[in-house]
Amino acid sequence: MKAAVFHGSDAGIRFEDVPIPEIGSHEILVKVAACGVCHTDLHYIEHGVPTFKKPPVILGHEASGVVEGVGIEVTAFVAGARVLIPAVLTCGKCMFCRMGRENICSDMTMLGNHINGAYAEYVAVPAKDVLHLPESIPLEEASIIADAISTPYHAVKNRAQVRPGDTVVIFGCGGVGINAVQLATASGGYVIAVDINDSKLAWASEFGAVKTINASKVERVSKEVKKLTGGGADIAIEVIGNPRTIEEAFECVRFGGRLCVVGYTHEKISIVAGKIMFKEIEVVGSLGCRPLDYKPLIRMVESGAIDVKRQVTHRFGLDELDKAFAAMKEGVSLRSIVVP
Ligand code: APR
Repeated sequence: MKAAVFHGSDAGIRFEDVPIPEIGSHEILVKVAACGVCHTDLHYIEHGVPTFKKPPVILGHEASGVVEGVGIEVTAFVAGARVLIPAVLTCGKCMFCRMGRENICSDMTMLGNHINGAYAEYVAVPAKDVLHLPESIPLEEASIIADAISTPYHAVKNRAQVRPGDTVVIFGCGGVGINAVQLATASGGYVIAVDINDSKLAWASEFGAVKTINASKVERVSKEVKKLTGGGADIAIEVIGNPRTIEEAFECVRFGGRLCVVGYTHEKISIVAGKIMFKEIEVVGSLGCRPLDYKPLIRMVESGAIDVKRQVTHRFGLDELDKAFAAMKEGVSLRSIVVP
């Protein structure tokens, strides 16, 4: 089969012929319909973040497809079924899985990181993690549910806990952030979107933001947010992964409010600790989503509350992955998918 194989940050990605993966008794083989192109892949390719599986490894963790083959113990799927593959596969045995917090599983397996991923024609995955996709959802665009939508779903619903009428400031309106905008709006939030790219902000308005702030054109975002909300937002969600914007998001939160950090950075942040105490601000992190969140989320896509089609702005062949990353870096794409 054809695959985009990552050979480490020095050698990059090569388009190659590799064997179709063999499946174990509890696994299924999925013919990939599409795989979303995520910023996380750029961390491996350009920023030296190591993959758990030593390269060569096939990246790509946001995939949908059609079942091609099933292991002898698999009963839940038959060949031809339309499926979504979650980005993270859980062990189901550790303390966190048993607490119902599988998204922080201590033995998690991430597609395109611990094991070969879906920038390929086929991928093998454990059947227990895979979800059926209804006919009414477009198969290729549905791939982005696996991360770009599921991650902000958990953030908005379970961690930020957006309620109707809440003022919610969202930092970053890229592939993940735009869905935080969409989901916070669907939850009844009054959304203020923040970005440095005007076209991202225009998209944010299309996806429900009531107000937008271009961070590069104001002195302090927190000052603007305080003006718009009369003292600070109920909730701030950071979906960039920049220490400075995490700090600024914190400054946007009112007394008794909540900051939810979705963006990843390995750097330190600086926040006056007394403000957390004196203002009773909750600071929470949010990682991926739990298996039980997928069904209601897929229902939201089915009902139209979440639009997948409109946000896939670019599609590329497997051998054009570099173009997808270029579009991401230039900020011209909202979400790109690779269609093998
Ligand atoms: N202020 C405001 N917006 C910014 C800033 C800034 N200083 N810097 C970048 N942005 C905006 C970009 O313009 C872009 O719209 O943040 C957005 C980032 O979007 P993407 O590059 O598409 O990244 P995405 O895939 O959404 O991931 C964002 O979430 O899950 C995590 O690991 C992921 O840390 C990453 C984050």
